[in-house]
Amino acid sequence: MTRAFAPATYPGLAGRAVLNTGGARGIGYAMARAFARHGAYLMLMDRDADALAGAAATLRADFPDARIAVHAGSVTEEADVAAACDACAESFGSLDILLTNAGISMNRPSLDLSPADWRRAIDVNLTGTFLCAQAAARHMKAQGGGVILNTASMWGLSASANRAAYCASKAGVISLTEVLADEWAAHGIRVNAICPGYIRTALTDELIADGKLDLAAIEARTPQGRMGTPEEVAEMAVYLASDAAVFITGHAHLADGGFRARGF
Ligand SMILES: NC(=O)c1ccc[n+]([C@@H]2O[C@H](COP(=O)([O-])OP(=O)(O)OC[C@H]3O[C@@H](n4cnc5c(N)ncnc54)[C@H](O)[C@@H]3O)[C@@H](O)[C@H]2O)c1
Repeated sequence: MTRAFAPATYPGLAGRAVLNTGGARGIGYAMARAFARHGAYLMLMDRDADALAGAAATLRADFPDARIAVHAGSVTEEADVAAACDACAESFGSLDILLTNAGISMNRPSLDLSPADWRRAIDVNLTGTFLCAQAAARHMKAQGGGVILNTASMWGLSASANRAAYCASKAGVISLTEVLADEWAAHGIRVNAICPGYIRTALTDELIADGKLDLAAIEARTPQGRMGTPEEVAEMAVYLASDAAVFITGHAHLADGGFRARGF
């Protein structure tokens, strides 16, 4: 029997201040909804100002008691990242949880991958994650602790042809997660990576439409026979951010319907 998705509740997340990059759509937006449901305060950061405004309006309508603010900017720009962290701390009094969802795909045969595309994937996915973690941790250290959840990917743990820059960037995010967990445990900061498998979002819909992802092949290859939902990934985030997970740090956590476990 396939069991239905059943979200849990972590009352301790109420009133925690969350900075969520890439929060305007997809997995980041689903995380925003999951944290809003818990009564957390949300600072959404995204480079897409229109999508950001739309996401905030929907969240405010659906969660009338929620405190939601937005900051348009890019995770690749140090000044934007520092401003978003400061805005979170000023609006809500702290920065308790950082969710780094901003990311881009990069599907190209390696022989055709231009240096510019390589740099773009590394810049957004890896350097952007580092800049956000560093800026947030400066607040968290001063506060006495915090939680950082970096959205990496199943493709940071396994190889996939035609995704050299993407895989390398996400493997880098996992390594970064381990180093920062080790380094910042002394400051009360937990750092984990979330590794989604194939999740149905605008990003994957675009790849399917462009013929870069084969939906039927993904479904056949996945033990559970389907792509995941952003909500299923968001549920892992609220658990890992909660005090139910206080002893969990420095790990890469998969939500992939069994995709990576299946061998030949
Ligand atoms: N969808 C999947 O199957 C899947 C699987 C594994 C990992 N991921 C990862 O999850 C994260 C979210 O993916 P998604 O599918 O929700 O993607 P998405 O494209 O639907 O959403 C990504 C969001 O990030 C924002 N963004 C992109 N670059 C940015 C930048 N430089 N600064 C600020 N915001 C920026 C976009 O505007 C967008 O709102 C990404 O890091 C992605 O690599 C997704």
